[in-house]
Amino acid sequence: MKRLLIATGGGDCPGLNAVIRAVVHRASQEKDWEILGSIQAFNGVLWTPMEIVELDNKSVAGIHFQGGTILETTNKGGPFAWPVKNNQGIWSTVDRSDEMIERLRNINIDAVINIGGDGSQSISQRLFEKGLNVIGVPKTIDNDLSSTDSTFGFQTAVQIATEAVDKLVTTAASHNRVFVLEVMGRNAGWIALNAAIAGGAEVCLIPEIPYDVNKVKDALETRFHKNRGFAVVVVAEGAYPVDGNVVFKENDEVGYENIKLGGVSRQLIKQLTKAGFEHDMRETILGHLQRGGVPIAYDRVLSSQMGVKAMEMAIEGDFGKMVAYRHPDFIAVDLKDAIALPNLVTKDNALISTAKGLGICMGY
Ligand code: F6P
Repeated sequence: MKRLLIATGGGDCPGLNAVIRAVVHRASQEKDWEILGSIQAFNGVLWTPMEIVELDNKSVAGIHFQGGTILETTNKGGPFAWPVKNNQGIWSTVDRSDEMIERLRNINIDAVINIGGDGSQSISQRLFEKGLNVIGVPKTIDNDLSSTDSTFGFQTAVQIATEAVDKLVTTAASHNRVFVLEVMGRNAGWIALNAAIAGGAEVCLIPEIPYDVNKVKDALETRFHKNRGFAVVVVAEGAYPVDGNVVFKENDEVGYENIKLGGVSRQLIKQLTKAGFEHDMRETILGHLQRGGVPIAYDRVLSSQMGVKAMEMAIEGDFGKMVAYRHPDFIAVDLKDAIALPNLVTKDNALISTAKGLGICMGY
């Protein structure tokens, strides 16, 4: 019998469970594969006692439409940066990757499928370099991984953000207000740009194009006649002005290495007020609502395709690779290439032309 371990790492994302189910279903057709899951990314392997669960067709039944991950996840620490507290109560991190590989050997794990975003896939690559048979499955609502056409969870997040624009339009119109909707995406503007186009927003600000507040003000002014009018601005959490920086919160969570973005919507309202924009403005931060709940059908299909492909790679012994969607195919790309560059919006992207063609102000 061969044993394969699944881990879900990084922020959660609609579609994770559908990947887990697809791996298990595909493996069950082979007879000689046993599937296990590590609880909370690789923490389940590193804890004593270990927290590893057996996965079979029965335990994954019906999970494809559940949000989150039945295996739980974390975006802190990991095998290369395990948080430890010394006698003085001071936290630091230690590398436990060799110990983890040893622990996996002791329980006869032949292969690992690591489902996660750029941070998790960097861990996959480093573990592969140390001899572990790893396969990566790309996951992120941000859609910021360059070697795949799309990541699951992204379209669900766009759908949720679009529904938020739809809702804000009616209240904005009723109150003659401007609503600034802040969406996720980290350093990528994909969620903002898609939701702005789908929802019919007037302004869309993304991290890849620093905004000029006066251009935003001018665009919004055209929406008002005397005191009547309304508008919706979609701003990505990582957006920043030409003469300023991203807005982030101080972070004291041990082992959390990302910047905690958030607050650009409020900053934009202040900047617009300072620039002389006089109409009523309100901000809405959509936050983790974009990551929760059921995956839309598109993401369930994408997740299932990626799960089946990942298991087939394991059967073929195709390790050190990540599943990538290259329409209409699913291919295996080297993990090191997959994590080399982020997938960011460029000014010549067709979506920018569409946005401009629709009259959406992109802040420049
Ligand atoms: O990478 C996914 C993401 O949801 C980003 O869009 C966001 O900036 C971040 O994770 C939030 O992370 P956390 O769950 O740690 O608040």
